[in-house]
Amino acid sequence: MSFGTTGSEDREVRARDRRMLLAATRLALRGRGRVEPNPLVGCVLACGDEVVGCGHHRVFGGPHAEREALADFRRRFPDLATRLAGARAAGALCRDVCVTAYVTLEPCAHHGKTPPCADALIEAGVHEVVIARRDSHAVASGGAGLLESAGVRVRFTDVCPEAQRLSDPFFVRVHEGRPWVIAKWAQSIDGKIATRTGESQWISCESSRRRVHVLRGRVDAVMTGIGTVLADDPLLTSRVVGVDGLFVRPRRVAKRVVVDALLRTPVDCKLIRSIGETGGGAAGVAVIIAHAPCGDDAARARAALLRSSGAVLMETSVVGKSVAGEPMLDLSAVLRSLHTDHGVSTVLTEAGPGLVGGLLRADVVDELMVFVAPLLFADGKAMGPADGGELARLADAKRWAWADVRWSGVDTLLCARRVGR
Ligand SMILES: NC(=O)c1ccc[n+]([C@@H]2O[C@H](COP(=O)([O-])OP(=O)(O)OC[C@H]3O[C@@H](n4cnc5c(N)ncnc54)[C@H](OP(=O)(O)O)[C@@H]3O)[C@@H](O)[C@H]2O)c1
Repeated sequence: MSFGTTGSEDREVRARDRRMLLAATRLALRGRGRVEPNPLVGCVLACGDEVVGCGHHRVFGGPHAEREALADFRRRFPDLATRLAGARAAGALCRDVCVTAYVTLEPCAHHGKTPPCADALIEAGVHEVVIARRDSHAVASGGAGLLESAGVRVRFTDVCPEAQRLSDPFFVRVHEGRPWVIAKWAQSIDGKIATRTGESQWISCESSRRRVHVLRGRVDAVMTGIGTVLADDPLLTSRVVGVDGLFVRPRRVAKRVVVDALLRTPVDCKLIRSIGETGGGAAGVAVIIAHAPCGDDAARARAALLRSSGAVLMETSVVGKSVAGEPMLDLSAVLRSLHTDHGVSTVLTEAGPGLVGGLLRADVVDELMVFVAPLLFADGKAMGPADGGELARLADAKRWAWADVRWSGVDTLLCARRVGR
């Protein structure tokens, strides 16, 4: 809907929209690791340029961002809030002050764990709602229509891509029935993740590794391949001292997932040993092994041993054979099963080129987090981050969009998102 404004007024409106939606985005990000599988949502209420209320969805099952922002508004400006709500209750909108709600995602229209947010905005007497992204979830969508039919002005805007991107993981879960997948690796300047002999510990600096531990504490699963288990014997838990040396409590405990078609995971590796340990650390943190159907007694015996050691086995269909003749699992099926059977909303992969290449070919990687260390290998036989594809023409290379670039100690952290969704 247009305002019928002049060019400069229009620029002013767009600039304000962007400012407010960026603020709402920053608020929403505070919910990372706490609200999933719900979307991250932020809301800012403003009178012109003055912010009068702020809120975000804090925790799964808790109040939505709009209700949090309205509660903040009532706390900070009780008289104004009463006037707005009073006018609405009397059947009109307050005439002398105008309040706009800026939300990163269309307010919901359904009764879920909480009542519809569209109703809350209507009852509060809000005049206008500016929305960064339409909700295409069949159950929750329709908030904009509800607001408009109650006389609230609604505008969708594309001025804040950061706000739009916030909901990508939610829509992957809803529409593709699988978790959001972040592939993370550490590499040298010349794009190598391990030497030709397989040595990779440690390419990234301590501060980058701490950052990864924080991230592990915000996802539901950390996934690797059998190659990395055999080469590095990782523990894959969040042992967190935060980025600036502060202790950071993990927000959720990530299950550890190994893609291991032939069940070669050793029972004495750290992953398996740690399941049975008592006390803190990795004790009791689940290990799920995705494997091919057992073809013989030896495979069935390995399965029984791993199961009795506490691992959860996830039999997965085979979609082909690797160059070495090993069964290749359907990685999309692994992800769907993690989502449906194990409640996994977000997966962080920390794997070598075998698994990363397979996930990229299956087109199920949504986000890349690449730590680039100031190292140069200058060895053509050192390992790159992803294997198994063939690319003859530059024009066939997949294009990604940069999402963030920042320092991470002495490394650079590059974040990119898949495009063309
Ligand atoms: N710098 C870093 O960030 C980083 C991170 C992790 C690892 N690394 C390095 O990477 C190296 C290991 O590389 P890698 O490629 O061997 O490790 P990987 O990716 O962890 O594991 C590869 C193995 O996973 C299995 N796999 C992958 N996709 C599969 C599928 N679709 N179905 C069934 N099995 C599948 C295959 O096992 P089968 O052999 O059974 O077919 C494959 O050999 C090590 O040197 C490690 O240090 C570096």
